[in-house]
Amino acid sequence: MSTAPAPESPELLARIYRQFRDYFDRAEKKRRWSLKEDVPWDHCNRSLPPAIADVVESFCAVELYLPDYLSKLIPQVRGNHGRAWMLANWGYEECKHSMALGDWLLHSRTRSDEQMADLEGLVFSHEWDLPYDNARGMLCYTTLQELATWLHYVNLRKIVEAEGGCPALERVLQLVAIDERAHYDFFRRLVSLYLEYDRPGTLEQLRRVINTFKMPAVHMLADSRKRMEEVKELRIFDEDIFVSQVYEPVLTALKVQKSELRRRKSPREIVAVGKAR
Ligand SMILES: [Fe+2]
Ligand SMILES: [Fe+2]
Repeated sequence: MSTAPAPESPELLARIYRQFRDYFDRAEKKRRWSLKEDVPWDHCNRSLPPAIADVVESFCAVELYLPDYLSKLIPQVRGNHGRAWMLANWGYEECKHSMALGDWLLHSRTRSDEQMADLEGLVFSHEWDLPYDNARGMLCYTTLQELATWLHYVNLRKIVEAEGGCPALERVLQLVAIDERAHYDFFRRLVSLYLEYDRPGTLEQLRRVINTFKMPAVHMLADSRKRMEEVKELRIFDEDIFVSQVYEPVLTALKVQKSELRRRKSPREIVAVGKAR
């Protein structure tokens, strides 16, 4: 159980909206890319190890849960202009990711149209639910998850290069990774703002998320164990990588000490202990 974080002040809401406008202006100017024009689809390496296509398919499946992500996240922040508009823009950027990964699976002929339809059927037969019950918790979760997702794509790209390369897939992974890093940066800035306005309430949510973090949706697929093992075996992501390349850098960026995340007794617990003595 966690206590609900304090509501946002008008000043905080205005600062969040300004963050979104900065993010949006930069994205429009520097980061928009075209699925059709910006990937050399005629240059697919069709002899990469099959494990790479399996991992691309798993990442594509996680991206395909977008209708659940959006339909459940937006109601949490409906009255928060900056966060709601960010989710609309984020959804546009994320929808390109599943299309780019899916297009590579087809262009590389590692998957057929029928197999892609089966994958979509599998994804849409399970519904993803919010792992945390409030918007502040979900913001902390999204911050960690976007950095972790960026790492997944960066590490997969290194493996593709080491296995002989594939210009089309490397470009897809590069474009998607740049988006994921920008998402992380935006959400991290928001957590910093919330820390400024409500440090105890934000730390409580951050503590919950760090103690229970899981990547979204992969565990919902029927063959989830095999998919997660492939990601670990290729050293794309595992618990050590989470600690050293997600958890620690996020705390540093937020200027949060590990000691602040240790569980403090709530006033009610302290009273209860006092009465028992
Ligand atoms: Fe994505
Ligand atoms: Fe993202």
